[in-house]
Amino acid sequence: MPTDYSSIDIPFVIPQTHRIRTTEDVLGPDAAVLLDVLQPSGALPAKVQVWVDSHLLDCRPELPQQIQSVLASRPEQVQMAGSVQSVVGGEPCKNDPALIEGMLEHFNRHDLDRRSYIVVIGGGAVLDAVGYAAAIAHRGIRLVRLPTTTLAQADSGVGVKNAVNWFGKKNWKGTFAVPWAVINDWKLLETLPDRDFRCGFSEAVKVTLLKSREAFDRLCENAPRIAARDEVASAKAIASAVRMHIRHITEGGDPFEMLEARPLDFGHWSAHRMEPLTDYTLRHGEAVSIGVAIDTMYSARMHGFPASDARRVLDCLTDLGLPVSHPLLDDPEQLRLGLEEFRQHLGGRLTITLLEAIGKPIDVHEVDWPEMQAAIEAVRAYQLEKPPR
Ligand SMILES: NC(=O)c1ccc[n+]([C@@H]2O[C@H](COP(=O)([O-])OP(=O)(O)OC[C@H]3O[C@@H](n4cnc5c(N)ncnc54)[C@H](O)[C@@H]3O)[C@@H](O)[C@H]2O)c1
Ligand SMILES: [Zn+2]
Repeated sequence: MPTDYSSIDIPFVIPQTHRIRTTEDVLGPDAAVLLDVLQPSGALPAKVQVWVDSHLLDCRPELPQQIQSVLASRPEQVQMAGSVQSVVGGEPCKNDPALIEGMLEHFNRHDLDRRSYIVVIGGGAVLDAVGYAAAIAHRGIRLVRLPTTTLAQADSGVGVKNAVNWFGKKNWKGTFAVPWAVINDWKLLETLPDRDFRCGFSEAVKVTLLKSREAFDRLCENAPRIAARDEVASAKAIASAVRMHIRHITEGGDPFEMLEARPLDFGHWSAHRMEPLTDYTLRHGEAVSIGVAIDTMYSARMHGFPASDARRVLDCLTDLGLPVSHPLLDDPEQLRLGLEEFRQHLGGRLTITLLEAIGKPIDVHEVDWPEMQAAIEAVRAYQLEKPPR
C-alpha cells in the first residue's frame, strides 16, 4: 500500500561560502590573511598541516621555516600537525596512487579531523592531488589552497574540483568540494619558470571568450606585457579571470556540473586528449591554448563566429607566448578520440561548448569531423605563418 511518502522529490540548497583572498606576500607582511582563515575549533587551536610542491621548495628552500614561523606566531589559534610536507610537483603527483595513500596515512597519523586544516601550496597538479586526499579523508577536511602557478591562480585553484589520473585517464578519480579558502599570492609566483608563467593565461583567454568582449579586448591589449611578466598587467588579468570564474561558479546555477554543458571546458576536449598523448610534456595551459584555437576556428567555420575575431584569438594566444599548434595536429585522427572521451566523462550525449560570438557561448551536440579537420588545418597553417614567440 503506497504511503504519502512513497515518492518524494525535495530540492534543497546547501549554504557554501567561497573565500578568496589576494595578497602580495602571504608568508611575509600579509601573513594575517592566512592566519585569519584558520579559525580555531572552540577553545582548541586549529590543527594545520601544510603540503608544498617539491619544485617550489627546490626554488625556495627557506619556505618550510617561513611557514613554521608564520603559524607559530598565533599559538593560541593555530597548532601545526607535523612538519611541512613535500609533494612531487607537476603531473606525476596525480599519476601515483601510492602518493595519495601516503597523504591519507599522514593525515591519520596526526589525527586530522573535519575541523582541521590542510594548507596546500603548489601548482594545479599538487592542489588537485592534495585536494582530492583532503576531500575523501573524513569525507572532507578543510582545504586552504595557495596556488603557485598563474594557471592555478586564474583557474583551477579558485574552482571547486579536484582529481587524480586513474586507469591512464586524466582526472578520472575526483570530487567536487568547495575549498575552505583560496589565497592568490603574487610572491609565490616569482620562481615560476617563464613557460609555466604564460600557461595560465590560456585559461584567462578561455573565460573571457565565454563571458566578456571587454575583458577579452583588455587581455589582447596587455598580452605582450603579460608575456614579459609585467606585474600590473599580469595581476589584473588573473584578477579578471578569477572574478569571471567565481561568478560562474557561484551565480551560474551549476557549480557541480550536473547539467549537460560544461562551458568552462571550452577548448578542453582536444586539450585533455593531447596531454596524455604527449606523456604530459605538453603543459595543461599549452594544451588549452591549442584547444581554444581549434574550437575557435571550428566556431568560425560552423557557428558564425566572426573570422576577424578568430584571428584575434589566435593572435592573442601567440602574443601571450603560447603555442596554438603542435606536431600532433599533423594527424587530427589522433585527437578524435578526445570527443568520445569527453562524452563518456559526462555521460549521455556529446555536449561541447562553442562560440557564436565573444561572450556568446552555445552548446553543440554534434561535431562535423571533416569541418573539425579543416579547423585543425587552419590552426596549423596559422602557426606556420606566425610561429610561437
Ligand atoms: N581542478 C580543476 O578544476 C582543474 C582545472 C584546470 C587544471 N587542473 C589541473 O591542474 C594541473 C596543471 O596545473 P598547473 O598548470 O598549475 O601546472 P603544474 O601544477 O603541473 O605546475 C607546473 C610546474 O611548475 C612547478 N611549480 C609550481 N609552482 C611553482 C613555482 N612557484 N615556482 C617554481 N616551480 C613551480 C610544478 O612543480 C610543475 O613542475 C593539471 O593536472 C590540470 O589537470 C585542474
Ligand atoms: Zn583547464
